Amino acid sequence: MTRLFSPWSLRGVVAKNRIVVSPMCQYMAEDGVAGEWHHVHLGSRAVGGAGIVMAEASAVSPEGRISPGDLGLWNERQADALRPVAAFVKSQGALPAVQIAHAGRKASTAPPFRGGKFLDRTEGGWSTLAPSALPFGDYGIPEEMDEPRILKVREEFVEAARRALSAGFELLELHLAHGYLLHSFLSPLSNRRTDQYGGTLENRMRFPLGVVEAVRAVWPESLPLWVRISAVDWVDGGWALEDSVALARELGKRGVDAVDCSSGGIVPDARIPLGPGYQTAFSARIRSEAAIPTVAVGVITDPVQSEHILVTGQADGVALAREMLRDPYWPLHAASRLGETLSWPTPYGRAKS
Ligand SMILES: Cc1cc2nc3c(=O)[nH]c(=O)nc-3n(C[C@H](O)[C@H](O)[C@H](O)COP(=O)(O)O)c2cc1C
Repeated sequence: MTRLFSPWSLRGVVAKNRIVVSPMCQYMAEDGVAGEWHHVHLGSRAVGGAGIVMAEASAVSPEGRISPGDLGLWNERQADALRPVAAFVKSQGALPAVQIAHAGRKASTAPPFRGGKFLDRTEGGWSTLAPSALPFGDYGIPEEMDEPRILKVREEFVEAARRALSAGFELLELHLAHGYLLHSFLSPLSNRRTDQYGGTLENRMRFPLGVVEAVRAVWPESLPLWVRISAVDWVDGGWALEDSVALARELGKRGVDAVDCSSGGIVPDARIPLGPGYQTAFSARIRSEAAIPTVAVGVITDPVQSEHILVTGQADGVALAREMLRDPYWPLHAASRLGETLSWPTPYGRAKS
């Protein structure tokens, strides 16, 4: 059996293979509530055979949304709307997963397909939060969070985790990447605080690790918790791979089951050498030096490439985003390419060659 199609035990649950549908914002929610689009989008990727189907960054509060169209998990109506989505994903044999997030100083923007610009209050936007009052590019100046605000946001993550559980998700990922709130505490480029949440690496990690601890305390022992990080900022003087190794060690000590290794997003002008597998080296290094399972992501498009990443020990799972938009049945196609016999959804059986 190939590594790609070998089952993956994650605490008390098992993913049937190592293929993860990477979280992808759809900007199609109303008031944070999932609709038919989310059912079909996530459902068809479960039908397509992925082992883990992860719903997009779901905001822990209204001001934590990237755009007005983001999914949310700050109220019960939102959890109720996601429950049938998670149930359908599970009914197709995939592990239903969701990412929870706070967009921090990168919140309050139009969806990318409407230009992606920062929205001020007159345009339906809202004021944003950050460790320091430093804007992201030409976005609005965020409010520097005081201690009560930090504790409130931690509680919002906890409440969102509880709702994710009640909605039926079995894997939870915390978003510590892409320049959003928790990443902005980690990176010295966005965090200029002089209190216990800024300065040294230990101080910059304090709030994100506090969120991880608080969420792990309510997320069941039997279910996996992942963290997505930006392994590097791609800027001199920014967050670096050694920092990620140190962070991953701390995450492991706090019961995180895998680190999902992305990169970038903290500043608009970083030069990122996008190309096939451009982030897998980060995953490999974190996996070996921090001794924690990892997920590789970033321009992974090919079954042989995916198998190679796993067999060479660079990661424990592979997450695909854009390729899954091009082909929701990628896992079924990958199986035949790699000579695996995978059962197809029963109604589709006549199409299996
Ligand atoms: C439409 C779209 C939406 C995305 N939304 C999210 C998201 O909600 N959370 C996240 O961590 N990454 C998000 N990403 C990043 C992807 O999960 C992935 O890390 C990135 O696209 C690189 O993988 P790829 O080369 O397979 O597309 C998004 C990417 C795309 C294309």
